[in-house]
Amino acid sequence: MTNLYHPVQIGNLSLAGNVFLAPMADVSDASYRSICADCGADFAYTELISSEALVRDNQKTFDMMVRAPNEKAYAVQIFGSTEETMANAARVVLAKTSCECLDINCGCPVPKVTKTGAGSVLTREPEKLYKITKAVVEAVQGYCDQRPDINGNLVAYSQPIPVTVKIRMGWDSQHITYKDCAQAALEAGAQAIAIHGRTTAQGYEGKASWEVIKELVDFVGGRIPVIGNGDIKVPEDAARMIQETGCDAVMVARGARGNPFIFTKIREHLTTGKITEIPFNTTLEAGFREMALLVEAFGETPACMKMRGRFSNYVKGFDGAKELRLKIVQAKTVADFQEIFKPYL
Ligand SMILES: Cc1cc2nc3c(=O)[nH]c(=O)nc-3n(C[C@H](O)[C@H](O)[C@H](O)COP(=O)(O)O)c2cc1C
Repeated sequence: MTNLYHPVQIGNLSLAGNVFLAPMADVSDASYRSICADCGADFAYTELISSEALVRDNQKTFDMMVRAPNEKAYAVQIFGSTEETMANAARVVLAKTSCECLDINCGCPVPKVTKTGAGSVLTREPEKLYKITKAVVEAVQGYCDQRPDINGNLVAYSQPIPVTVKIRMGWDSQHITYKDCAQAALEAGAQAIAIHGRTTAQGYEGKASWEVIKELVDFVGGRIPVIGNGDIKVPEDAARMIQETGCDAVMVARGARGNPFIFTKIREHLTTGKITEIPFNTTLEAGFREMALLVEAFGETPACMKMRGRFSNYVKGFDGAKELRLKIVQAKTVADFQEIFKPYL
């Protein structure tokens, strides 16, 4: 197998590799992104962040955008339905964070979001997708205030960061619009496009269409990178997606839940064709590091509540997973988790 691992250029953002962590609500926070960065993810996104909440100066929303100190580059993903609010939100993101990229969510299928005219409903209206993307691109290019750097010091903003979009292939089987959406995004100045090969109507059912990813790669023709997404569960899937579709980067969501070492394995597999298994205790140690970061960010009780679901994912596939889960969902303190996992650490 030739080396499928390579750098990616998104506008003026140079990434060392082509293995990305997807945006995931309640999953891809700074704590988990930090673990994934350690495990080899080259790039990651925040979960979707409301443009309305950003312009309302909502501190809790600002907290959702913070950078993990060890990540080399990350994107803040925003969603919204009006050009004005999205442009204003983009300026807030620039003023508050050191993110290297701003991503527009055009893929969220959740009715709470689509009913407001945001998320994947934008794939039904490529003209609106164009207007929103253009407004955000112009806001980012026209921004002239200082921005925080990685250490939080305010610095001059000299290089406009790239704006990217993440779409589904369409609304339903009657509305397969990904090419129109890509064209709209390109014309509006987006510098990469990520595609999840399902329609909104499919939700997460069925198989993601990699054929569609390939067609999008052909359609875009190298003008901007295409990031392939959908159903990468094991490292071999990542290699196959790159080979079958020609996508510039792969983006992993569900396959990375409680499984940060998937990035280590994908990188190894893309580079050498091999996969080295990771011992269970090493995986668990990553979970404990995640928990420690969550405790720092939110305090022990909220962190432990979050870790109930997250540790349940960490033990997935392990022989005693079922018994462990029964205990995990009752844990309230860090000490409870330590007690549960003592035999395995
Ligand atoms: C729990 C969860 C939360 C998600 N949150 C977001 C989100 O905030 N923004 C977004 O663009 N996609 C979101 N997605 C979609 C994923 O980024 C991805 O497109 C989808 O899961 C398909 O990839 P996969 O097959 O690797 O899981 C979410 C998916 C899951 C499972």
